[in-house]
Amino acid sequence: SCVCLCSCLPLSRLLIVYPWTQRFFSAFGNLSSPTAIIGNPKVRAHGKKVLTSFGDAVKNLDNIKATYAKLSELHCDKLHVDPENFSLLGDILIIVLATHFKREFTPACQAAWQKLVRVVAHALSYKYH
Ligand code: HEM
Repeated sequence: SCVCLCSCLPLSRLLIVYPWTQRFFSAFGNLSSPTAIIGNPKVRAHGKKVLTSFGDAVKNLDNIKATYAKLSELHCDKLHVDPENFSLLGDILIIVLATHFKREFTPACQAAWQKLVRVVAHALSYKYH
């Protein structure tokens, strides 16, 4: 469905545009080409998880740090993901939204999303501070 396809696009694009991020997903199988990445069911499933988690941010705007405390621990202490990558994924999410919604994705809309992805990236980096 459209929702499933759209929700896996940000993670797929991250892996294609910034190939070094693939090293975190070596357990996901074939990532050898853009087609392989976009068609990879594990990438799809995981992309959906990540976007659902962004949805949690929208629902918990007053409580972002606590919402991401556990995930911050996972990404920082366990996975050692460089926090720069959270910003890259946030920017990619905005590009995917822009290509999808076109003129409906107004500058004001972009401004709201830029704020959100920045706050999420910051909350996920919390454990590094
Ligand atoms: C796992 C969210 C960015 C690498 C997860 C999970 C969520 C999540 C919800 C699943 C946790 C669980 O199963 O308990 C997010 C959000 C991000 C983000 C909201 C927003 C910026 C990144 C980035 C990378 C990354 C940039 C690496 C470049 C991983 C890895 C896992 C994971 C390797 C474990 C995957 C597995 O083996 O199942 N993330 N993530 N994440 N994340 Fe992220």
